[in-house]
Amino acid sequence: MKIVRLMLWAAVVLVGIFFVGRHFMTAQDAGSGPGGPFTLTSQTGQKVSDTDFRGRFMLVYFGYTYCPDVCPLELEKMSRALETLDKEGYDTTPLQPIFISIDPERDTVKEMAEYVPQFYPRLLGLTGTPEEIAKVAKEYKVYYKKRVVKDSDGYLMDHQSMIFVMGPDGKFQRIFSSRNTPDQMVAALRPVLTKVKDTK
Ligand code: NI
Repeated sequence: MKIVRLMLWAAVVLVGIFFVGRHFMTAQDAGSGPGGPFTLTSQTGQKVSDTDFRGRFMLVYFGYTYCPDVCPLELEKMSRALETLDKEGYDTTPLQPIFISIDPERDTVKEMAEYVPQFYPRLLGLTGTPEEIAKVAKEYKVYYKKRVVKDSDGYLMDHQSMIFVMGPDGKFQRIFSSRNTPDQMVAALRPVLTKVKDTK
């Protein structure tokens, strides 16, 4: 009986190692991962390119300012994680949070300027022409589509919701999904930061 149980446990551990290993491989396989070059317009009207962030990490989220639910939640989550790290005394400037609009029709520079500061002071809002947005979304393999809603004068944008972490070399490192908590983000990001202030 004991032997059987031991063998079962060994099997569980082996399967576990296999899956963890596979996940690790996926995370390391950055060559074919999401991401690519972009030049878009910030909420202050400046042209911003991916190359501006070499040497730092980009936390990239695609969404739109009219989003009634998911986008504000995810932007809030990303902001809470950064605020926690700030409070812990870490220099968070190596992390650049970026919000890219997939609704360029409505998300003008002015609209973005009003929206992004509500979440985090350093949150960068990027918009562009429909062509520029289509290009960057394709590079990040983010699906989005306009959905006209009946009995409403507007429309919704169906879109994928995830936070991409791009490394200092501009290459994909990992994704935070909607299942990840702010605490999990904090734990994952803390090791790449330097503590500059003592906190109790
Ligand atoms: Ni949304």
